Amino acid sequence: MNLTDRIVVVTGAAGGIGAALSRRFAAEGAAAVVVADLDPEAADAVAEGIGPVAHAIALDVTDEEQVRDLVADTEERYGRIDLFCANAGVTTGGGVEVDDAGWDRAWRVNVLAHVYSSRAVLPGMLARGGGHLLHTCSAAGVLTAVGDAAYTATKHASVGFAEWLAITYRDRGIRVSALCPQGVDTPMLADGLAEGHLGARVVAASGAVLTPDQVAEAAVAGLAEERFLILPHPEVADYARRRAEDPDGWQAGMRKLVRRLTR
Ligand SMILES: NC(=O)c1ccc[n+]([C@@H]2O[C@H](COP(=O)([O-])OP(=O)(O)OC[C@H]3O[C@@H](n4cnc5c(N)ncnc54)[C@H](O)[C@@H]3O)[C@@H](O)[C@H]2O)c1
Repeated sequence: MNLTDRIVVVTGAAGGIGAALSRRFAAEGAAAVVVADLDPEAADAVAEGIGPVAHAIALDVTDEEQVRDLVADTEERYGRIDLFCANAGVTTGGGVEVDDAGWDRAWRVNVLAHVYSSRAVLPGMLARGGGHLLHTCSAAGVLTAVGDAAYTATKHASVGFAEWLAITYRDRGIRVSALCPQGVDTPMLADGLAEGHLGARVVAASGAVLTPDQVAEAAVAGLAEERFLILPHPEVADYARRRAEDPDGWQAGMRKLVRRLTR
């Protein structure tokens, strides 16, 4: 997908990766960028920074009615949505002890919200014969987020759902991409590093921490090539290959890394 004259929606766009995607899509010539986020003031600031092609919408992606309204209002205003980026995501931190409310939040934001937006946007895209879904998953969805069980499980589910969409709809004109970065310098990772969380330290020890702009760069390149798996950290492909070929050996390597960091 070439971004010129496209109508784009980005969720979780008030900061971090979503804001960088929004800015980059506008710079690539998008006709409209809808900056959607739970945080209305921050979303307004991002949209204002981009200029007249952008406008902000406050919504909670876990509320299906609000997602349906976002899609319907955008289609009414611009006639179509060419690219929908389901980017909002949350970490939980912790393991099996995390309570059901924590697991539920991770499930609703990281997975169910992708179902809601796909359900809302696909009918119009299918009727028009085309469209692109970009789902921000994570390297945690093809590997493991040490220290965060719910993030790992829900990001794996989000990659699985994106893959299902890609296989089901590709021959009907719908392109689907799963954006799977490893460490990115946003509050999500920076807060964890500042607090010394093991998971954040493992991420930082596993490869470069990219800027959100570098992730946006990789996303634009992946969209142009209509690639399913977009890996801003190319080494994630090697880790995933090793994990698939030798799961026990790969897990032993992960345990060794954790031992080294916690010694
Ligand atoms: N930062 C990383 O290292 C990293 C790595 C891999 C994947 N990711 C993924 O990238 C995506 C963006 O993360 P980020 O690093 O920019 O994080 P971030 O915390 O900086 O930004 C997330 C944004 O999502 C919004 N949001 C959260 N819940 C929402 C909801 N219910 N409805 C609407 N908006 C909501 C927040 O307000 C925030 O603006 C997430 O899906 C995350 O899992 C991040």
